[in-house]
Amino acid sequence: MKVKLRNPTREVEVPGPTSVRILLERLQINPETVLVIREADLLTREERLADSDEVEIRPVISGGAGRGPAGVAAKCKRCRAPAKVEVARANAAFCADCFLRYVRNQMTKAIDDHEMFTKEDRLLVCVSGGKDSLALWDMLLDMGYDATGYHIVLWTGEEYANESRAMCEKYAAGRGATLIVTDLKDDEGFTIEQIAREGRRVPCSVCGLTKRYLSNLQATREGYDVLVTGHNLDDEAATLLGNTLHWQTEYIARQSPALPSTHAKLSKKVKPLYRVSERETAAYAILRGIDYIVEECPLVAGNTALRYKDALNLMEARSPGTKQQFFFGYLDKVAPLFASEDKVELRACTECGQSTTGDVCAYCRAKKQLRAKAGRKGAS
Ligand code: AMP
Ligand code: FES
Ligand code: ZN
Repeated sequence: MKVKLRNPTREVEVPGPTSVRILLERLQINPETVLVIREADLLTREERLADSDEVEIRPVISGGAGRGPAGVAAKCKRCRAPAKVEVARANAAFCADCFLRYVRNQMTKAIDDHEMFTKEDRLLVCVSGGKDSLALWDMLLDMGYDATGYHIVLWTGEEYANESRAMCEKYAAGRGATLIVTDLKDDEGFTIEQIAREGRRVPCSVCGLTKRYLSNLQATREGYDVLVTGHNLDDEAATLLGNTLHWQTEYIARQSPALPSTHAKLSKKVKPLYRVSERETAAYAILRGIDYIVEECPLVAGNTALRYKDALNLMEARSPGTKQQFFFGYLDKVAPLFASEDKVELRACTECGQSTTGDVCAYCRAKKQLRAKAGRKGAS
């Protein structure tokens, strides 16, 4: 049987017939980190595979290693139809329709519990072209929210940038939805690749800073009520693990799925997918026929959050539910204790007028540094 593996893309021959579970075991792949696809159809671990089958094993989690738990029931927990997706942490499996409903319910609970937004609000949804943010935009539009897409072309790599933008544009065109695009190279005069090449700053941290700054600028300048991102349960649990290991209490205090606006130039920010795992958002996108960029950012090697994701995936494979226990437990029991840590006074950046705790905001400082470097280069 032909098996297509991704990142990097390659094909291997595996003798059949067999089951998905045995195939993954043979290839030593953690089932929690992939989805197995045959002709645009998702397969559960108990599915039989014939020698003539062609299957794709698609990684749906950045990084990931180790072995997974034994298979779970292959019947939908809700309607008893044949299951398409296992959700080990809920000790459940669902058919396509019930799975989509399960994911939407998780998002609705997040929106309600944290009073994220209402149908009257204008939402600016940050879309990267990846599974999480496109699935998020899709659900928001389906539910009747006023959701405009916003994409930043970061230029972490030529091909990656073009494809990411194309995925966002394709989705927007298919839905007749509005997408706003900012091109870092044209509008801001630098690229993340350039920062990586110069090696003076960690590209991921400048990338994160740029995304936060530009999306907030767009939202506040154009009068959007809420800025929405596609951070999922895996992202949030990995960030919390990193912040906890380093006891970065001021970051821990700010890790809420909904941050209110505390300054005229600071938008309200929400993460409606924090209850949905990365594997689940990927399954959602595939079942809904959403085309997304499967490749990872070419600069991902320097991303420290990946190590924490790896560690959490190892634990999740042994004890399904670890990630949610960690993050939901933090929200229930710990976040209230940290509330007092988050008392900073904001003022206007003397360069750009956006909010900052100092005189000049971090983004303006980073840009100044880049210009100084370019100037020195030009003079030499
Ligand atoms: P990441 O930082 O890549 O894990 O992405 C987290 C979230 O940030 C995504 O779910 C998007 O909502 C947003 N995001 C990431 N990349 C972009 C981008 N190039 N343009 C707009 N939003 C983005
Ligand atoms: Fe792309 Fe860090 S810059 S993952
Ligand atoms: Zn500034």
